[in-house]
Amino acid sequence: MTDTGLPMRVPAPGLPPRIRIHEVGARDGLQNEKSVVPTGVKAEFVRRLAEAGLSTIEATSFVHPKWVPQLADAEQLFPMLGDVADVGDVALPVLVPNERGLDRALALGARGIAVFGSATETFAARNLNRTVDESLAMFEPVVARAKDAGVHVRGYLSMCFGDPWEGAVPVAQVVRVARALMGLGCDELSLGDTIGVATPGHVTALLAALNEAGVPTGTIGVHFHDTYGQALSNTLAALQHGVTTVDASAGGLGGCPYAKSATGNLATEDLVWMLDGLGVETGVDLGTLTATSVWMAEQLGRPSPSRTVRALSHKE
Ligand code: HMG
Ligand code: MG
Repeated sequence: MTDTGLPMRVPAPGLPPRIRIHEVGARDGLQNEKSVVPTGVKAEFVRRLAEAGLSTIEATSFVHPKWVPQLADAEQLFPMLGDVADVGDVALPVLVPNERGLDRALALGARGIAVFGSATETFAARNLNRTVDESLAMFEPVVARAKDAGVHVRGYLSMCFGDPWEGAVPVAQVVRVARALMGLGCDELSLGDTIGVATPGHVTALLAALNEAGVPTGTIGVHFHDTYGQALSNTLAALQHGVTTVDASAGGLGGCPYAKSATGNLATEDLVWMLDGLGVETGVDLGTLTATSVWMAEQLGRPSPSRTVRALSHKE
């Protein structure tokens, strides 16, 4: 480490020059908090993330409020984010499971949504109260109507690398649902390692299988949870494959209330530290982002699990 709190820049071959970070702390992070974070604190969190240079900040979810009470204030929060647009060209996508959710999101002017499917039947049942195919049928009109309205659509796919109830998830099973999601008209696909069990070879194998099945790398993002400490290694494998969209959560917040073994996402600071060292541009200022996560940890009353946040905040 240097005195400046930044790693020494030593580029490595075979990596993209720039990537887009899809920041999920305000959604994936806060949906998993035991306490409900006040709406004003959430709005301040999103504004600070934008000031740190994040250009895609997933803001909240328009799901059933009883299923995810932590995000039940979506109607109050979303209109409070108007000033975030003043910070720069920031996209604020929201999760939407069905037409009811889409109606709520469109009524507030959302310009980006994400539907969220599962590669396994058990998680589809637990997270969406549907079979895999029933959930795809539920998404079909959502994606069609969103596209008609000129709204950007992301398709999440959970349990791509393993499932806490079903165990190993065959690559072919993931490819089938991924193709179906993209066939609905999603603009991008985010591969979820919901419980953080992936390892780099598995990531490369899934990406190659998706390419072979006609899903181009340019439409794929990766969404790693860090349960086994593999998220950064998995990300590097994905970047070496040509992926340029990486999901991460400020301070390493996160998990999934319907998959108990899921821990936080890859911490955005840990990702930016690695990418700054590699000379891969992200547009994110590590110091501002770390200060945001330190502030958020104070709001939550516990330290950030991010190693980079801890290292930088203990630095003199
Ligand atoms: P359901 O009980 O089957 O709902 O839940 P339903 O369609 O039978 O409707 C029942 C009632 O709920 C109806 O009201 C609907 O209007 C209402 P009634 O007519 O009885 O008065 N309702 C809604 N109200 C508000 N907003 C809505 C909505 N939808 C229905 N959107 C449902 C099905 C999909 C709604 C439910 O299962 C749900 O909300 N699930 C969300 C679970 C969730 O948010 N999980 C976390 C996100 S996924 C994740 O974290 C993984 C990810 O990070 C990637 C990774 O890591 O792998 C993305
Ligand atoms: Mg997640």
